[in-house]
Amino acid sequence: MIVGLGIDVCDIKKLIRPLKNKKFLKRVFSDKEIEYCKNKKNAILHFAGRFAVKEAFLKAVSDRKDIPLCEIETVNNEFGKPEIARTVFVKNLLKKKKVKKIFISISHIDSLSVAVCILEK
Ligand SMILES: CC(C)(COP(=O)(O)OP(=O)(O)OC[C@H]1O[C@@H](n2cnc3c(N)ncnc32)[C@H](O)[C@@H]1OP(=O)(O)O)[C@@H](O)C(=O)NCCC(=O)NCCS
Repeated sequence: MIVGLGIDVCDIKKLIRPLKNKKFLKRVFSDKEIEYCKNKKNAILHFAGRFAVKEAFLKAVSDRKDIPLCEIETVNNEFGKPEIARTVFVKNLLKKKKVKKIFISISHIDSLSVAVCILEK
């Protein structure tokens, strides 16, 4: 049963300045996410996609309290499919919300990235 749905769109303009700030970068993105994006031709678009995933996930769980954004980590599997890593933080939150599966999808166009997140019980 679907118990949560979230969507977010991120304009790269919103991230151009913050991404120059190391503190922001480390607070919002995991080391793996930073490495993934920096290896892409248009890094900022991939950062925007990951940012959109974080916001979409938060909407899906409807919980914003004390959530460190870097703990909501997107990883791509061997086929490129994005997934949310089961960090300790995510595991605990899912347990609390009784969520078994997370589905996410990302798409980019020009200067926009969009992400959706579905939670299943
Ligand atoms: C996967 C694919 C459809 C992406 O489409 P696109 O129009 O080039 O790019 P979009 O901007 O819409 O999407 C890019 C995002 O797709 C996601 N993606 C990549 N491979 C994926 C896959 N196998 N399954 C699901 N999502 C995938 C990624 O999250 C990527 O963003 P990221 O690199 O920032 O994480 C395209 O690369 C493709 O056709 N690949 C070959 C066939 C394939 O593997 N298809 C699987 C889905 S049908």
